[in-house]
Amino acid sequence: MWATTVVVPLVLLIALCMKCAEAQLQGRALSNDGMTNIPNLKYGLFVHFVPNLTVNHNGGVVANANTLANGFDASQFANDLAVAEVQYVVFTSWHANMVALWPSDIMLEWDLPDHRVDRDLIGDIIAAVGNKGIRIYLYTHPRDGMQFTDADREKTGWGIDNGGAYNPGADFNRTKWNAFINDIYGELMQRYGQQIDGLFMDEGSPQGDSETVVDYPQLRSTIKATNPNANLIQNDYGNLYGLDMGMKEYGGWGEFSQPNESLWPSYAEPVAAIFTETWWAASTTSTIRYSAGSMLRYTAFQAATNSEGGGITWAAGPYADSGWEPGVMATFQQIGSWISGIHESIFDTRPSTSYPTKPGTTIGDVSWGSATKSADDLIEYIHVLKPPAGLTLALPAPRDGKVFSTGSRLPVSTPVSLSQNIKGVNITITGSWDANLTVIRLTVLSRSGPVPLFRCSNGIHHIDTTDSGCETSSYSLDGPLGYVHAIQLAGTVPLYRCYSASRGDHMDTTDSSCEASSYVLDGVIGYIYQAQVQDSVPLYRCYSASTEDHMDTTDASCESSRYYREGVLGYVVV
Ligand SMILES: *[C@@H]1O[C@H](CO)[C@@H](O)[C@H](O)[C@H]1NC(C)=O
Ligand SMILES: *[C@@H]1O[C@H](CO)[C@@H](O)[C@H](O)[C@H]1NC(C)=O
Ligand SMILES: *[C@@H]1O[C@H](CO)[C@@H](O)[C@H](O)[C@H]1NC(C)=O
Ligand SMILES: *[C@@H]1O[C@H](CO)[C@@H](O)[C@H](O)[C@H]1NC(C)=O
Ligand SMILES: *[C@@H]1O[C@H](CO)[C@@H](O)[C@H](O)[C@H]1NC(C)=O
Repeated sequence: MWATTVVVPLVLLIALCMKCAEAQLQGRALSNDGMTNIPNLKYGLFVHFVPNLTVNHNGGVVANANTLANGFDASQFANDLAVAEVQYVVFTSWHANMVALWPSDIMLEWDLPDHRVDRDLIGDIIAAVGNKGIRIYLYTHPRDGMQFTDADREKTGWGIDNGGAYNPGADFNRTKWNAFINDIYGELMQRYGQQIDGLFMDEGSPQGDSETVVDYPQLRSTIKATNPNANLIQNDYGNLYGLDMGMKEYGGWGEFSQPNESLWPSYAEPVAAIFTETWWAASTTSTIRYSAGSMLRYTAFQAATNSEGGGITWAAGPYADSGWEPGVMATFQQIGSWISGIHESIFDTRPSTSYPTKPGTTIGDVSWGSATKSADDLIEYIHVLKPPAGLTLALPAPRDGKVFSTGSRLPVSTPVSLSQNIKGVNITITGSWDANLTVIRLTVLSRSGPVPLFRCSNGIHHIDTTDSGCETSSYSLDGPLGYVHAIQLAGTVPLYRCYSASRGDHMDTTDSSCEASSYVLDGVIGYIYQAQVQDSVPLYRCYSASTEDHMDTTDASCESSRYYREGVLGYVVV
């Protein structure tokens, strides 16, 4: 075993409490800090509400924008979102044919009276949803001129030539279109910019070439002039045009074209995915694409890789006259009831550093599940998505050296028994595993535990890492070398990894300047003992001149005659 100490920084506790008090004083979600809040958001709802697309309860499309806006029940909508327990909502401020869902003066100035509504629907939604403590992003589209009438195209510079499905034609006046759209974004931000976390700005071209139509730098400066913290998110088709972050978009296609959540990849970026027929209420016979259990499992899994924030925003739209397509409300109720007892393991968390999951991983790829940690790194949450046969889940040693003190199972904090040694962590529950998701909450005592060090090989060259997955696909696991530490303990020094691109060779050293060689610093692998301690052995660095390869080993004769011993790097616990 190893010695452990735990110091909770007092300053941190005070800072956290001040933040709590602030939120309580306002009695609602803090606004105006979208850029800093986005890492906390892991579960949202993406809502489209669009004149001439959204239907009502009898399945009829509501073409009249005022009828659509006037029929919307903002408080019922907010109640429904609260049932689903979502952290945030993305709501349409305009989409097809660009009808602003507020009484826009700018649309009148541009002589576009059909592109606005009389009701301040956006203001009403912000008030109702904000009262529930749910944070708000507004959906926008900077290049939605293609559905305009010829007269409106001329007024806005879009032009009447048909350039193609997405693009304007030869008579497009980019200056004029951008003057128009910039006025609209300016008005939107003046009215609502202080009450929202940010904007979703739809990519209008699958080719990712929208800068030919939109002056993004101008829009960005107009938006940020009103609220510098407004977070600008775009569905990512490879070009973000200087906006703040991308979002993966799944309209029932790609990996999300089938309902088996084991095949849905997780991402560092946020993900939007429809779970009904399409992004808005489209029919009274629409069916649900995914089960609530699948959605819960992916929501938890995505939180484990989603370093940028935003998590997953499931998409569905309400009927024009309120309510939802078949199965939507039941899905909200089911997920909401599951989430309410375990949301601390998802909301406001960060991807685990003890049991990291690489972006791109699916539930099908992992052996037991994935993990998150609290933002202050004092709690680790284990999401068991594939229960073991017995009542004990055997986890490997945490990669960040965490030592856990107690464990409990959410939602009711049932104690679990915990056993940790140099080899790993065993969690034994009472009762039985949940078929969909079991959440274990572990309190962190310290990060001074031993971390396994692995050697990987690509056939010629070797690399040392604490990632048993060898960091990149070009290397495969050679085996364990022993244990180092994730933090510097008494008697330990950093073990650096250096790299020579011309040789394709990694060399480890305790010298941060890479021994003044042509190698450049790659980073710190971990902390290694300088002198022999109990249960430790020397870690040798060996070299093969013929293959220009450095290789570390605990074998004093370098495993093969091809290598000669360069020296002792330090001591690893075995
Ligand atoms: C509604 O959409 C149809 C095409 O789907 C179009 O012909 C019609 O002009 C639109 N009506 C309004 C009010 O925008
Ligand atoms: C484009 O619009 C701008 C601003 O409205 C105008 O000054 C300019 O003459 C227009 N360009 C053309 C080629 O029509
Ligand atoms: C798991 O999810 C499925 C699909 O939503 C659901 O039918 C089932 O009841 C869930 N199981 C548990 C134990 O909650
Ligand atoms: C879902 O995919 C996983 C991983 O490929 C597979 O093991 C499982 O059987 C699939 N489940 C269903 C219901 O098809
Ligand atoms: C975990 O359980 C396995 C199987 O019983 C056992 O071999 C291992 O030593 C246990 N590890 C810990 C840390 O208790």
